[in-house]
Amino acid sequence: MSIEKKLNGQTAIVTGSSSGIGRSVAWHLSQAGANVCINYHSSEEEALELKGNIEKQGGNAIVVQADVGDEKDVDKLFNKTIEAFGGLDILVCNAGIQKDDAFLDMSLDDWQLVMSTNLTGSFLCAQRAARIFKEQGDRGLSCSKGKLLFMSSVHEKIPWAGHVNYATAKGGMKMLMQSLAQELGSMGIRVNSLGPGAIKTPINEDAWKDDEKLNKMLELIPYGRIGETKDIGKAAVWLLSDDADYVHGTTLFVDGGMTTYPGFIGNG
Ligand code: BGC
Repeated sequence: MSIEKKLNGQTAIVTGSSSGIGRSVAWHLSQAGANVCINYHSSEEEALELKGNIEKQGGNAIVVQADVGDEKDVDKLFNKTIEAFGGLDILVCNAGIQKDDAFLDMSLDDWQLVMSTNLTGSFLCAQRAARIFKEQGDRGLSCSKGKLLFMSSVHEKIPWAGHVNYATAKGGMKMLMQSLAQELGSMGIRVNSLGPGAIKTPINEDAWKDDEKLNKMLELIPYGRIGETKDIGKAAVWLLSDDADYVHGTTLFVDGGMTTYPGFIGNG
């Protein structure tokens, strides 16, 4: 079933959208009528392929390389989007990486790399977007004057041994999102997060590629299946549309029930 054009004429930046969840979000936003800026860090080919797919469906997209942890790159990302589409309505702070290690072995580089992309990148991008939303005023395209959506994780809530940099960044993202919802709401800017659980993407392929590992992972998911990127893309369209206009300051978990702690079934 096709998505209604709930974001018609709006312009969205989706960071880290050449692959995985970001790619699906960019695709679904474009299917809902949004112009999309596809941001990538190193996978130019995949980003261009997505742009081609969007254009084949009659949508508008540009591709911009940028490291979201770098202020100059972030300025370039926003400038190129405004140049191409004349305004901004939606930012999805999706770019994120994992650099897993046992805490006792974790290097400062791996700590900082994850903080830079997952948390500082979200700060830098959200700040630029909010400044633009305030300056451009009401574009008459949506009930709100702009929407910020953070791609958080079940790990803003569930601690994660062996991934302390990642879980700490997602916990920080939760407070970033909620503090911004408090601070920017009166400007008409709507702020939320999505909290994906285990979604089949390259970031966690070690955990689902072989059957034994997949079955172990499924023990964490009451609904009994691993998530697909489209589960997140569709939720993003709803959360960014006027159908969700009164949803503000919330994380919507899209996780097959992972945050219900199924380890307690028959236990505790
Ligand atoms: C992580 C995945 C993981 C999932 C559930 C996500 O935020 O990026 O690697 O499978 O959480 O633990």
